[in-house]
Amino acid sequence: MKINSICCIGAGYVGGPTMAVIAQKCPNIKVTVVDLNQERIDKWNDANTQNIPVYEPGLPEVVQEARGRNLFFSTEVDKAIEEAQLIFISVNTPTKTYGSGKGMAADLKYIELCARQIARVATTDKIVVEKSTLPVRTAEALKSILHNTGNGVQFQILSNPEFLAEGTAVQDLLNPDRVLIGGDTTPEGQKAIQSLVDIYAHWVSREKILTTNVWSSELSKLTANAFLAQRVSSINAISELCEKTGANVSEVAKAIGMDSRIGNKFLKASVGFGGSCFQKDILNLVYIAKSYGLHEVAEYWEQVIIMNDHQKRRFSKNIVSTLYNTVSGKKITFLGWAFKKDTNDTRESAAIYIADDLLNEQALISVYDPKVSSAQVQYDLNYLQTRSEQTNATLVQSHTNVYEACKDAHAIAVLTEWDEFKTYDWQKIYDTMLKPAFIFDGRNLLNSEMLEKIGFKYQSIGS
Ligand code: NAD
Ligand code: UGA
Repeated sequence: MKINSICCIGAGYVGGPTMAVIAQKCPNIKVTVVDLNQERIDKWNDANTQNIPVYEPGLPEVVQEARGRNLFFSTEVDKAIEEAQLIFISVNTPTKTYGSGKGMAADLKYIELCARQIARVATTDKIVVEKSTLPVRTAEALKSILHNTGNGVQFQILSNPEFLAEGTAVQDLLNPDRVLIGGDTTPEGQKAIQSLVDIYAHWVSREKILTTNVWSSELSKLTANAFLAQRVSSINAISELCEKTGANVSEVAKAIGMDSRIGNKFLKASVGFGGSCFQKDILNLVYIAKSYGLHEVAEYWEQVIIMNDHQKRRFSKNIVSTLYNTVSGKKITFLGWAFKKDTNDTRESAAIYIADDLLNEQALISVYDPKVSSAQVQYDLNYLQTRSEQTNATLVQSHTNVYEACKDAHAIAVLTEWDEFKTYDWQKIYDTMLKPAFIFDGRNLLNSEMLEKIGFKYQSIGS
């Protein structure tokens, strides 16, 4: 089937950028992105594309080119479903916070709601594409809902997981390492796969478009994230050993990364990985393994999370012990709150947990992040429910000027690797801080020699 009308349910970090690029590359396909969240849709429709709700380098330009031509953002979900031949489901799939599987399994309630809505509204045949990251065999549940509550229309279900990383989403979408499409092995399934292949083939070479069965596709997504996170936890484990032995983790990472069998990516030691997906997807993998009775498999992957929690915790503990075993009443400045550079996303950012630890020690925290608002910082801390909102608001201040943020601080903690941090007037910052002035570089970002020359007591990860 030749597709000329697409709908995507979920206008978040994946739905928005992915559909913008599809619309840019396929001007003859009408792409409508819908969401229940009116505020989010309003921001996607903001006349100034710099105000769209997802900060991604290059994205405003893509939206500018396609929006109003063949790219539309709307809250009219039913209408968009009805009009579309192919529907991407790109809603959130967070870790369950209640009931069985609490804290581990993926919460599929948003997915199920979408399926029921599609079943209720559709009067013509549709291809339904899982774009969200889902537990292996979710397509089975979707199929069951669509086929049993629908209006007798035919549905084909495909799995098309997204591999973009935030901060580089546009580049990742324009030049993906691969596009993965899973579908039924029946002739109808193969036809549906082909329709989606033809969309991507507008700009991705066909050799890079992999087609598999649905289960392989669903499981490949969880596996890819587990492998990537595992590399970060592995190098972080070695970073602690480096600190004890006099080895330097950057040198070790370079030495092993030059082995072509290991490769040099995802070997940067850090304060711990964050982001909405690594932890969620590994917990989900662990839960699935457990549910099949595969306890060794579950424990193997769970260790990646245990190591990551340890890495965050030891970073905050080290700040306290270095500052003479007390941070009570001391101002500590956080450079960065986002979970990585070039995004305004803060979900599961290490900064949140480091702040929470230090607040438990009665520290005063001042935050500077070029893209994260004060309201978001407060939201993230309040979400943990460790202390009252009032207390968080009193103890944590955000600043829009980095020099103000650092004034009278006992220490600076670098939590995000924003490039601009490297360009500051560090002498000026040093002059206004209390002495000794400490820097805890959780990203191994800054120039240690230069900082030590100025007089800073500088500590990085893994050396
Ligand atoms: P998000 O929270 O940014 O966006 C999800 C959106 O879906 C929200 O705006 C929400 O309002 C909307 N929504 C939820 N239920 C809805 C419904 N019934 N009808 C209409 N809208 C609804 O999430 P995200 O980061 O875009 O992630 C979406 C999925 O993609 C997740 O499964 C995630 O694991 C996966 N993923 C994310 C990334 C990433 O970089 N963030 C990368 C690859 C895959
Ligand atoms: C990750 C994957 O890279 C994407 O392929 C995937 O699509 C996405 O998850 C998802 O499913 O959501 P993302 O979380 O956006 O993308 O960003 P990453 O670049 O993977 O970084 C994740 C975290 O690991 C960040 O906190 C980052 O700072 C940290 N990290 C990464 C390190 O500490 N060291 C590294 O070497 C690499």
